[in-house]
Amino acid sequence: MAGSDLIAAARRAREHAVATFSHFKVGAALETADGVVITGCNVENATYGLTICAERVAMFKALSEGHRAFTRIAIVADTEAPTPPCGACRQILWEFGGDLEIQLANLIEAKGTHHLKDLLPLPFDARLL
Ligand code: THU
Repeated sequence: MAGSDLIAAARRAREHAVATFSHFKVGAALETADGVVITGCNVENATYGLTICAERVAMFKALSEGHRAFTRIAIVADTEAPTPPCGACRQILWEFGGDLEIQLANLIEAKGTHHLKDLLPLPFDARLL
């Protein structure tokens, strides 16, 4: 799949965001090693603290459907500056996705490509247990 298609899938997923409190809608599209795309959006609730980000929704959906190997994730928000994954999401993406390619974009254009190892240096993971 072209990178632009993965971003388009993340833009579509963003439309489902439940951003009742922040009004900050995020969409994510995670590509598996065999080319399947699993999407996610952020979901907020009245406790605020139980909010889950788009990236973790996408990863947990994918894992729950049996996927175990991943190549890329696109993340979309409606902002001029790109929206990178939060610390909690970096940890989960690293543990289950390894050194993913991370494509950041807004509703208009791509905003850059990163590698997760650069966003999460010296990670803690199961290899250290
Ligand atoms: N959020 C995400 O879904 N992904 C990110 O990468 C950054 C933050 C969500 C969490 C919350 O619902 C809202 O954006 C504001 O922080």
